[in-house]
Amino acid sequence: MSPTKPKHRKPTLADQADRYKLYGQSVQEPDHEVAFFDQAYKEAYGSKPKLLREDFCGTFAVCCEWVKRGKQRQAIGVDLDPEPLNWGRAHNLAKLSGNQQQRVNLLQQDVRRTDKVKADVLAAQNFSFWIFKTRQDLLRYFKVAYANLSKRGILVADMMGGADCWLENNQDVRKVKSFKYIWDCVRFNPITHDCLFHIHFKFKDGSRLEEAFTYDWRFWTLPEVCELMREAGFRETKIYWEGEDEENWFATPTAPADACWLAYVVGVK
Ligand SMILES: C[S@@+](CC[C@H](N)C(=O)[O-])C[C@H]1O[C@@H](n2cnc3c(N)ncnc32)[C@H](O)[C@@H]1O
Repeated sequence: MSPTKPKHRKPTLADQADRYKLYGQSVQEPDHEVAFFDQAYKEAYGSKPKLLREDFCGTFAVCCEWVKRGKQRQAIGVDLDPEPLNWGRAHNLAKLSGNQQQRVNLLQQDVRRTDKVKADVLAAQNFSFWIFKTRQDLLRYFKVAYANLSKRGILVADMMGGADCWLENNQDVRKVKSFKYIWDCVRFNPITHDCLFHIHFKFKDGSRLEEAFTYDWRFWTLPEVCELMREAGFRETKIYWEGEDEENWFATPTAPADACWLAYVVGVK
């Protein structure tokens, strides 16, 4: 029997998809992030910050937004992985003017390295610091973050929580442009708070990009994170909760026990 020639199938939308582009369209709002950093810095020090350090920067969309908002502004993006950094160079950095590009500095290195240049705002966004799973490891990271800040600096880290976030095999599906974004909680261990999440994408032709991104994290809580930031040296921690309009954030000591919430923790040096 002669071998049958493989049929060439038409590429699906999933085959043609760019996972970083889909991620950006689904979860990133760099203009909102930068507006919040300005607000939090002003509320801490009464002035405008100039130098941003974006730890776990991936495609460093926030750095690019930052330098667009003032000629004095500089940004440092830090990530271990060359793949998202190169994607960001080709797609985000390339859209900036020559002068703006010169004010973005990228470091392919571990976020736990202390550098000479000190930032006004150090951002650790999209729950990325949850890769540190023990108090010891997270404390070490917060100490380095403290050392990488200027005297008048803030550390901004986002957090999520609420009963819905702890449900295993729970998928949050959202329509974004012409595709669906699926946030999939695969595992949550209530004893250790080890958790596993995937992001999948589904397209109009029925094809899917499974496990486009995977996160193996510890699900930290707000009081733990505040305690560790203070232990690392921050003189004050503030929790910013989302206003009803989902546009504004306000510092508060109490909040409703929503089933699913987002918040920012701000450590003031
Ligand atoms: C959840 S992604 C967030 C990307 C980015 N904040 C965004 O929203 O596009 C986490 C990023 O952290 C990076 N990363 C993980 N551990 C790191 C470490 N120890 N030092 C530097 N980067 C790290 C990964 O390479 C990945 O790009």
